[in-house]
Amino acid sequence: MGSMDIRRVAVIGAGTMGHGIAHVAAQAGMDVALFDSFDGAAGKGLSKIRENLEKGVARGKLSGTDRDSALARIRVETSMDAAACEADLVIEAVVESLGVKTALFAELDRLTPSTAILATNTSSLSVSSIAAATSRADRVIGMHFFNPVHIMKLLEIVVHDAVSDATRAAALDVARAFGKEPIVVRDVPGFASSRLGICIGLEAMRMVEQNVASAEDIDKAMELGYNHPMGPLRLTDLVGLDVRLSIAEYLHRELGAESFRPPEILKRMVADGKLGKKSGQGFYTW
Ligand SMILES: NC(=O)c1ccc[n+]([C@@H]2O[C@H](COP(=O)([O-])OP(=O)(O)OC[C@H]3O[C@@H](n4cnc5c(N)ncnc54)[C@H](O)[C@@H]3O)[C@@H](O)[C@H]2O)c1
Repeated sequence: MGSMDIRRVAVIGAGTMGHGIAHVAAQAGMDVALFDSFDGAAGKGLSKIRENLEKGVARGKLSGTDRDSALARIRVETSMDAAACEADLVIEAVVESLGVKTALFAELDRLTPSTAILATNTSSLSVSSIAAATSRADRVIGMHFFNPVHIMKLLEIVVHDAVSDATRAAALDVARAFGKEPIVVRDVPGFASSRLGICIGLEAMRMVEQNVASAEDIDKAMELGYNHPMGPLRLTDLVGLDVRLSIAEYLHRELGAESFRPPEILKRMVADGKLGKKSGQGFYTW
C-alpha cells in the first residue's frame, strides 16, 4: 500500500463513529485494536459492528467468510497502551473537546512508535492545535468520517501547515483502502463539508422565516432540483437544531461571515425545546 505500510490500526473511542471506523478498517484487512475509556463501551461497539456486518451478509454485500474474518481482526483492549503501542495508525474518535483531545494526543505521542500516524476524526476543532500537543505534528492529520461510517462514502482529509507529504499520501491510501472517496481540505473552521452544509441549512431557515415557501417545498427544491437525497430542513431535524445552532455560532465567530449568523427562527426554536426528531418537533412533526 503506497508510501507507508499501514497494517495495524488502533481506534480510540468506540461510540457512534469509533465502532464504524473499526468496522471499515477490519473490512479493509487491517488488524484493529479498539479502546474506549468508558467500561463496556468497546464491547458494545464490537456488538454493533457484528450487527452491521450481519446486515451486510443478509443484503448480499459480503459473504459469511468476509464477516468472520473482519470480526477476527478486531480486538477490544482495556488499556490505551495495549491498543496503541504497536499501531501504524491511530484514529481518535472521542468526545468533541479540545482539552480531551490534546491530552489524549500527548499521551498517544508517548505510547505509540515514533513512526505512527495519529489521526483525529474531529468535526470542528483545529487539527493543528491537536497536532501541537505532540512532538510529531508532521504525522498528525484529520480524517473526518461521516455517520454511519460503514455506509457513507466521503472522507475529508484535513491537512494543516505542518503535515508531511508522506502522511498526507498515507491518509489518502488508507481512505481508499477503507472504500472511501477522500477529499483534501485545508484546516479551516468547518472544513469543506460543514461550511457548505451549514450555509445551505441556515439559508433554508431564513427562507422559512421570510415565508418564501413551506419547509416541505424548500426541501423539495433541493431534493428534486439538485438531487440532494434529503432537503436541508429535514436534515437539520435529523441532526438536531441545537447541534446546528452551536456549529453556526462557532462558524460565525471564527469565519465572521454573515452567512453563518444563526437565524432568529433557529434560536427561538432551540429555546422552545424544538430540537428536531429527538424532541418530536422541529421544522417537521415527528
Ligand atoms: N456523530 C457524528 O455524526 C460525527 C460525525 C463526524 C465526526 N464526529 C466526531 O467524532 C468524534 C466522536 O463522536 P461520536 O459521535 O462517535 O461520539 P460518542 O459520544 O458516540 O463516542 C465517543 C466515545 O469516546 C469515549 N471517550 C471519551 N473520552 C475518551 C478518552 N479520553 N479515551 C477513550 N475514549 C474516550 C466515550 O466513552 C464514548 O464511547 C467527535 O470528535 C465528533 O465531533 C462525529
